Amino acid sequence: MVAKMALAKPFNIAIFGIGALGTLFGSHLSQVSRVTLFGQWPAQLAALRQNGLSMTHPDGHQSHHRLTATNQIQQIPTTDLALVLVKGHQTTQVAEYAAQVLHPAGLVLTLQNGLGNYEQLADILGVERTALGITAQGATVTGPGRLRYAGSGPTHLAKTPALAERLVTVTDLFNRAGLPTTLVEQADSLVWGKLAINAGINPLTALLELPNGVLAEPSQHQTMMIEAALEVAHVAKAQGIKMPYADVAQRVIEVCRATASNHSSMLQDIKRGAPTEIEAICGHVVKHGERLGIATPVNMRLLKLVQAKERGEDNEGLGMDIN
Ligand code: PAF
Repeated sequence: MVAKMALAKPFNIAIFGIGALGTLFGSHLSQVSRVTLFGQWPAQLAALRQNGLSMTHPDGHQSHHRLTATNQIQQIPTTDLALVLVKGHQTTQVAEYAAQVLHPAGLVLTLQNGLGNYEQLADILGVERTALGITAQGATVTGPGRLRYAGSGPTHLAKTPALAERLVTVTDLFNRAGLPTTLVEQADSLVWGKLAINAGINPLTALLELPNGVLAEPSQHQTMMIEAALEVAHVAKAQGIKMPYADVAQRVIEVCRATASNHSSMLQDIKRGAPTEIEAICGHVVKHGERLGIATPVNMRLLKLVQAKERGEDNEGLGMDIN
């Protein structure tokens, strides 16, 4: 029987990841709880410590937030909630750090893109302490200590009986912090629904080095985006998972419109020379497709192109120019 999560104030939250979503969630949650951000990006840590976070909101107004950020795990107090917002290749390492600070009755929550993160966290922290969610919040780091908030989208947390009580606490906390959040039963549907959006938008915007809005208008790139998203829907369907929206093509275009000025997280990674989440996104689609006997040529092509770009190779050298 899992002990009840301590509700007494201060409610300690550790946020792993000091990029766009880490600082966005951190600035909101700091208003209702004690938050410590953990990450390794030196320029961001220095800027947050010296000047805090300057946020430009969708309507253009600016706000300023004082945040506690560290790269020393010993400086994180015993944690009620560990929120994981790092890239997929850092998840196992973060699980090991979280294991050092998480209260025995605490919860680790992944809101990362792609597949495979929940399993890596649960392996180390246990299923009774691991929760999964997805978020449609969109933000771009415009420089160390500077964030452009592209738009507030909903966050959904997957309800499981063992975690139900603690998830209600977390949902309430997020809502009080101004992060619209709901608990849902059909988590698979939301996860695969988000995966289709990410497989469509992220690799193409990263390869083109353009904001999401470029894919909102009809073009060969838009066609490729829709094909990539449809492949995800086919792989989901073969597993009995229903998309959370009726029309995949329409939905992915709507997200491009709603986040038109946003630089996708993959483009942000490419720009700062960091590894991307291509493996957790298109890589997993291809793997599941192979397992189920479903062809996913567009995801495969995007996977190879982004991997080549990560290595600094010329895409044309692969004979796979995206045009
Ligand atoms: O990863 C991202 O950037 C986001 O999930 C999305 C929805 C594509 C918006 O930029």
